[in-house]
Amino acid sequence: MRHQALAYVDTHFERFVAELQDLLRIPSISTDPDYAGEVRRAAAWLADHFRALGFQTVEIFETEGHPIVYAAYEVGSDRPTVLVYGHYDVQPPDPLELWTSPPFEPRIQDGVLYARGASDDKGQLFMHVKAAEAYLKTAGTLPVNLKFLIEGEEESGSVHLRPFIEAHRSLLSADVVAISDTALFAPGVPSITYGLRGLVYVEVELTGPVRDLHSGVYGGAVENPINALARLIAGLHDAQHRITIPGFYDNVRPLTEEERQAFRELPFDEQAWMKAIGVSAVRTEAGYTILEAITARPTLDVNGIWGGYQGKGAKTVLPAKAGAKISMRLVPDQDPEDIIAKTQRYFEQHTPPTCQLRFTALHGGRPVLVNTRHPALQAAAEAMARVFGRRPYFTREGGSIPVVADFKQLLGLDSVLMGFGLNSDAIHAPDEHFGLDRFRQGIESIIYFWQCYGGA
Ligand code: BES
Ligand code: ZN
Repeated sequence: MRHQALAYVDTHFERFVAELQDLLRIPSISTDPDYAGEVRRAAAWLADHFRALGFQTVEIFETEGHPIVYAAYEVGSDRPTVLVYGHYDVQPPDPLELWTSPPFEPRIQDGVLYARGASDDKGQLFMHVKAAEAYLKTAGTLPVNLKFLIEGEEESGSVHLRPFIEAHRSLLSADVVAISDTALFAPGVPSITYGLRGLVYVEVELTGPVRDLHSGVYGGAVENPINALARLIAGLHDAQHRITIPGFYDNVRPLTEEERQAFRELPFDEQAWMKAIGVSAVRTEAGYTILEAITARPTLDVNGIWGGYQGKGAKTVLPAKAGAKISMRLVPDQDPEDIIAKTQRYFEQHTPPTCQLRFTALHGGRPVLVNTRHPALQAAAEAMARVFGRRPYFTREGGSIPVVADFKQLLGLDSVLMGFGLNSDAIHAPDEHFGLDRFRQGIESIIYFWQCYGGA
């Protein structure tokens, strides 16, 4: 029989969407200190929401950065405990001029909700909150104990979350973590993510002369830091598109033949994938398919580069400085600290004597693989199968959620990564959106998941 909680979702769906829009109106951009007040406002909004739903414990924990929201509803020690993790912070909306409508004025068009954070992660996090409401308002109880841990710094590296977890082990004790901050394999094709890549983010700056110089007066003898930086960056990949930093691949766990076979069996259309992003050719590491390369192999990408004259027209200048932001996606068992050290050594050894190097590591996160035989993953698979009418694939994704490795390392907990985003949701980009059909499928899947896992 269909649980009354699902009927409740049907009858209250419009209000759920309206509430989500209220949350999306708060520009909780964690990386920009100018928005610290808005980040705090989003935390308070969530805490108020949990209180209104009758959660037994609701607390806002201050950190040296943005606050952490904790809420719990416990039904008894005979039931398993699910720790729901999500993040209420968002990426900056830039470039603003490319949005069809303002990023913090949510708009619904053809069943799709457009706003910064609609998919990553306010919309997905809110599915768990509304699943709890539906269950509590109909059954008066829950099939599992629920604890919510919602942070406001995921998009800026979760720097204060790890110490918080270390300091609150018993508060966070649970049987499994559940996270909706990843994507479905394709529209209507459910998946559970069992692997995420790690991340290292560094900044390098080369300084040449003490000031900008006239390129006619000095050019030819003085090193141009942009040219020097370009040589360093170009040297980071070889002709096979492998990363040349010595020792970079030392701890990379090779893909097993079984895993590669499983990848081949996934319904991934390389041509359609290329067409969707407007590229006619790809550059993967030699010997790997696109899907392997974007989810299970490490990468190095320049995210931004600066120096010299960027304005209109031509200005002849030999700039004093050049810099770049570089990220590396890591796979098991690469270690962020080790990769940072090796990267720094590369830049130190290759910086020409004509320039001075400044190397800064911004943040990092470990890669993770979760145990697909965990009973909670099996319950989640069963739940998604009921909603989507087909069993989910177990997949790896290329993005990073650094806390997933911390949950394993610090609390011994595996994570159920049941995401309802789509890679086409334009997360971190203009016109981010979330289909309301997926918002509903997510709430329904979560309700079934709790039922299956709680044994109800
Ligand atoms: N939700 C994403 C991570 C993600 C995206 C996982 C797509 C799987 C598929 C998350 O909010 C995110 O963007 N994380 C950052 C991590 C970082 C800033 C430490 C990322 O992956 O760049
Ligand atoms: Zn996210």
